Amino acid sequence: MKATIIDGKAVAASLRSQLKDQVAALKEQGVVPGLAVIIVGDDPASKVYVSNKEKACAEVGMYSEKYALPAQTTQEELLALVEKLNNKPNIHGILCQLPLPKHLDEKAVIEAISPKKDVDAFHAQNVGRIMIGDYKFLPCTPAGIMELIKATGIDITGKECVVVGRSNIVGKPMAMLLLHQNGTVTICHSRTKQLKEVCRRADILVVAIGKAKFITGDMIKNGAVVIDVGMNRDENGKFCGDVDFDSASEVAGYLTPVPGGVGPMTITMLLKNTLTAAAK
Ligand code: GUN
Repeated sequence: MKATIIDGKAVAASLRSQLKDQVAALKEQGVVPGLAVIIVGDDPASKVYVSNKEKACAEVGMYSEKYALPAQTTQEELLALVEKLNNKPNIHGILCQLPLPKHLDEKAVIEAISPKKDVDAFHAQNVGRIMIGDYKFLPCTPAGIMELIKATGIDITGKECVVVGRSNIVGKPMAMLLLHQNGTVTICHSRTKQLKEVCRRADILVVAIGKAKFITGDMIKNGAVVIDVGMNRDENGKFCGDVDFDSASEVAGYLTPVPGGVGPMTITMLLKNTLTAAAK
């Protein structure tokens, strides 16, 4: 194996320890950062994510409250809860776990969350702020990835950065953050022609497409930083990323594992956004 493994758990632990101190300092001033997490329905993966978010809040001394609503909750009921939380003084951040059941309008729910409490940074106002580089919150996964790249010590300026995936949650904001750090950025997606050749140009390759082991070693430039956002199950039911770890690790300079790479960073950035919201 050639690649240095980027230890997301270690980077996250170090950041969480700093956050814990910052939360304690804010508490001294009489403010306890508070996060409200809404989950609708019984999706098992969502339940695990929400429980991990609650645990992480407790770990750094933040307050959290969970609203577990039944799958048949109406749009009106959900919007009424969001409005109540928008006006609740001890709640600084609101997160509605996605995806929502099909009958609910996700976009309307995101837009109903006060931009000041939008710790996911999904509200159009916060997305727009990221475009112009004048933001308070960054979306958690791309922000966590920026920390992982920083941990390698590699300067993004002038580097060829390729983002595979164009979702609103990861791909698009990721491209913008790399651009803000002076990367030369290309976004690839399912219709991209010559994907292999484009990926092979990348000094920094971020993959978020949700296809198990899709990016193989022959698609990676020698020595590249490879960030794997995927969380899939392989043919044996084992967790795996969008990058084929074994072949990629023979070529890449740095590589994130799955699990233990990007995952721990996402929740850490949620805590950071909640602290930022509370400190305002
Ligand atoms: N579902 C999967 N990832 C996320 C996330 O980052 N935020 C929310 N709210 N839901 C998600």
